[in-house]
Amino acid sequence: MPQIELVRGDITKMEVDAVVNAANKSLLGGGGVDGAIHRAAGPELLEECRVLNGCETGEAKITKSYMLTAKYIIHTVGPVWHGGEKNEPELLANCYKNSLQVALKNKVKTLAFPNISTGVYRFPKTMAAGIAIRTVNKFLKEQKKIKTVYFVCFDEENYDIYKEKLIHLALE
Ligand code: APR
Repeated sequence: MPQIELVRGDITKMEVDAVVNAANKSLLGGGGVDGAIHRAAGPELLEECRVLNGCETGEAKITKSYMLTAKYIIHTVGPVWHGGEKNEPELLANCYKNSLQVALKNKVKTLAFPNISTGVYRFPKTMAAGIAIRTVNKFLKEQKKIKTVYFVCFDEENYDIYKEKLIHLALE
């Protein structure tokens, strides 16, 4: 049965087949987890991203991971929060769905997600956690190839929110 695991820490240290990056539409790097992943992966990542021609919000694209222990990086672009009337929840769900689809296509068995859109893009953390957990849980139930999905929380607030929500999921 595929598993969901919760981790507190730095996603660049995860020993998984793929780490997901919360990128921007240019895919040319930035701050937050995007900056951390590019710093850890090294300059070749940017070279590969340059030819990907960007990425639409909610979509996902895969690259090699270079200096990271993971095999791949799956770049996805979360929605910027504008109050919730601009399809943000569905776009965020698409980030998780499309990243999982790309992972499946590339025979990824273990995958780590950051808390997409909850930093610079200001998506409310509790709502984002609910969308992430529901979307990933539903997807995992419908396939057997992806074995484990890790939610990697860098900040304590997200970690506490996910912990609370995942306890309820386990009790369902
Ligand atoms: N490992 C795991 N999570 C991290 C790390 C890390 N090393 N560094 C930051 N985070 C967490 C933040 O604490 C936050 O919970 O990633 C989550 C997402 O925050 P951002 O990185 O700001 O991403 P996002 O809100 O999706 O905004 C994307 O920010 O960095 C730029 O280029 C990026 O323009 C894009 C925008």
